[in-house]
Amino acid sequence: MENKGENKLPEKIIIRGGKKLSGTINVQGAKNAALPVMAAAILLKNASLTLSNVPDLYDIRTMCDLLRNLGASVEFEGHSMRISVPEKLNTETPTDLVRKMRASSLVLGPLVARWGHALLPLPGGCVLGSRPLDFHLKGLSKMGADIELKNGAVSASSGRLNGASVTLDYPSVGATENIMMAATLAAGTTCIENAAKEPEIVNLADVLRLMGADIKGDGTERIVIIGREELSSASGYIIPDRIEAATYMMAGVITGGDVTLKGIEEKCMEAILNKMRDAGAEFAVTGDSVSVRVSSNGLKGISVKTLPFPGFPTDTQPQIMALLSVADGTSIVNESVFDSRLLHINEFKKFGARIEMQDNVAIITGVKKLNGTVVHSSNLRAGAALIIMGLAAEGETTVCDLQHVWRGYESLGEKLRTLGADIEFED
Ligand code: UD1
Repeated sequence: MENKGENKLPEKIIIRGGKKLSGTINVQGAKNAALPVMAAAILLKNASLTLSNVPDLYDIRTMCDLLRNLGASVEFEGHSMRISVPEKLNTETPTDLVRKMRASSLVLGPLVARWGHALLPLPGGCVLGSRPLDFHLKGLSKMGADIELKNGAVSASSGRLNGASVTLDYPSVGATENIMMAATLAAGTTCIENAAKEPEIVNLADVLRLMGADIKGDGTERIVIIGREELSSASGYIIPDRIEAATYMMAGVITGGDVTLKGIEEKCMEAILNKMRDAGAEFAVTGDSVSVRVSSNGLKGISVKTLPFPGFPTDTQPQIMALLSVADGTSIVNESVFDSRLLHINEFKKFGARIEMQDNVAIITGVKKLNGTVVHSSNLRAGAALIIMGLAAEGETTVCDLQHVWRGYESLGEKLRTLGADIEFED
């Protein structure tokens, strides 16, 4: 498969734009659900976690390597994964792996809770402004962990953690996941207030419950966890990737095509569908399939503000901005989740898009057509948005630095070709 972690993946995609994308594709398992669920295996001892619908992505391969480095064994075949945890795990994570991906920080809570210690170099990942770990660390410290920051690494140590009341200053997805995982093995009850409500949190809680955890309230802003002495082997399922689905929906709509996504949970995508509908898209829902196309009135400008779930996700902000760059009239896109997530605008302008930026707000004046060009992706979703622009543009577009895109899109070429795109890859 295209995304096999051990093979070198192409660095460029060349797109001959202007083809209407039409057809049906399956949605992959959610990257952002699979990563924390994989980290949850660290809460086990002499036991295993089996998962289905795991997407085969670069970030998933990085998490496999990280778990193996800690001493777990990981088998990954097709979309099935089995993580077996022995009698003892290492608690020090290697700098090279952690720097590849911010989600490496998700091993912190489980390592401290189960193994009493974690050493984590400060993680990397997409360049999206400052992405500190202070909420994660404050939560774990409230549960009794001793936290030290030295030489660019976090060291956390503890005996058995204690349940605590943790109020997050912001509903951070990663902090909610880390604290929820740690709390499953703490002594007593933990209550997370102002918790993130993303579907990926609910997926993690579902798998933790299958492992024997006592968790209530996931999907709301108050999650209550009663700690257990230990958790046990389980088999879990990864939910569909709403961000991947949204990306192909935007690609279908911008090219004037008709795309059907199979295997979707529509209720997780309401904010995205509502905004796309406002902009002129039409949807037909049949069971777990959603078909989308542009209405006869065409696309029109709208206002979008990114927010924590159930608001419009920041991970689809660059993609909707691509769509709005050719919508009739003016659009306003306000990025409120991350402080530097509009840097793709300069690359968008190379296609002829008219966008101005004021702080974290982009003002877009729709243009009639985009022109093919050479652009560079700076992060995962910006890269996906540049591909969407290239699919709509007249002439040839080359999107470079595809390594960012491989972190989150399985079988990208196969899926685009199924929909009729004229593309090729280059090393
Ligand atoms: C997760 C997703 C990412 C998505 C983001 C927001 C995964 C693997 N990644 O990232 O794709 O864009 O949610 O939906 O699931 N913050 C702090 N201190 C902290 C933690 C966060 O200030 O300790 C801030 C961040 O800088 C950011 C905001 O909180 O401004 C939201 O971040 P958070 O929800 O934690 O994102 P991630 O979990 O890193």
